[in-house]
Amino acid sequence: MTVPAGAGIKAADGIAELGAEARRAHSSYGEGALVVCDQVVRIYTGAGIEVQALQGLDLLIEEGELVAMVGASGSGKSTLMNILAGLDTPTAGRVRVAGHDLGSLSARERLGYRRRQVGFVWQQAARNLLPYLTARQNVTTPMRLSGVSRRRRGSKAMELLEVFGVAHCANRTPDRMSGGEQQRAAIATALANTPRLLLADEPTGELDSRTAQEVFAALQTANTELGATVLVVTHDPAVSAQVRRTVAIRDGRTSTETLRHDAADELGNAVRHAVEYAVLDRVGRVQLPRDMVEQHQMRDLVRLESESDHISVWADRLAGPNPPGGAPATGGTERGTR
Ligand SMILES: Nc1ncnc2c1ncn2[C@@H]1O[C@H](COP(=O)(O)OP(=O)(O)OP(=O)(O)O)[C@@H](O)[C@H]1O
Ligand SMILES: [Mg+2]
Repeated sequence: MTVPAGAGIKAADGIAELGAEARRAHSSYGEGALVVCDQVVRIYTGAGIEVQALQGLDLLIEEGELVAMVGASGSGKSTLMNILAGLDTPTAGRVRVAGHDLGSLSARERLGYRRRQVGFVWQQAARNLLPYLTARQNVTTPMRLSGVSRRRRGSKAMELLEVFGVAHCANRTPDRMSGGEQQRAAIATALANTPRLLLADEPTGELDSRTAQEVFAALQTANTELGATVLVVTHDPAVSAQVRRTVAIRDGRTSTETLRHDAADELGNAVRHAVEYAVLDRVGRVQLPRDMVEQHQMRDLVRLESESDHISVWADRLAGPNPPGGAPATGGTERGTR
């Protein structure tokens, strides 16, 4: 085959341009967001078993948000939290927090990231505080490791314990504090180095509902008064109902989001509206909520109809009745392949 002079260069140019375009599209996803999860995959392997804990998860969180994350046991919530905390790395995909690409940090950078950019609070109070230190010493420890002066760390620790209503525990070790006090002291400790992102993995899971509410209020304070962006995993509907945005994870992917906003009814009373959205990922995948799928007995294949202002999804039963106002269940217009 003869190739005209210069054609090879043109093709190379074209490919280089396509590559550059793909990189631009890739890097512009989530531009400006504090947390960017871009098709994150985490596969655990061991003893011949492979678990796909995250299966191409996309998530954006803007600076200043307080987001709740819900999902069935085993859906991948803690796996994601561990990655965002810098304790684990994704098998594939990209995770960026406050401009740090968490997949490519050196050990030293990772340590710096964990010390200064992110704070975390876990479900087990015992995991959050060092048992042989007082609440004040717990809060000053991360600051000491970051080189904050003794004087400054003493005053900042007291400020934080006061903000979270646990100044009276300053000189107590965790065994002399209630579960709620321990978690509030843990939030103060997590915020000692003023991280941009505060992660809390079921921080109220071991508490009764009143104490859980106090701990959740502390997370709200961290968000509204101290400016931290907060991501909290919870099984508690009372907690998720109080946030503007709840992200649901299913089978290692974000599946639906509930957004709430306040409005006034006709009498001028404040009412909160909640709207549930399905997540449309960047390759066009949508997970249908399980209850809707079951209600309409959908399985294997569903038929899509593009209407002027929406898309309808039909349970397609080959011999079944025609959908009202829609095309017959068999036949119809061929869309061709693209
Ligand atoms: N270290 C690990 N090794 C192997 N598999 C793991 C590991 N950690 C988690 N998994 C598996 O990955 C999947 C997701 O687990 P993950 O802990 O993220 O779920 P979760 O949503 O936090 O659940 P829960 O609500 O029970 O805390 C599960 O199937 C779990 O068994
Ligand atoms: Mg978990």
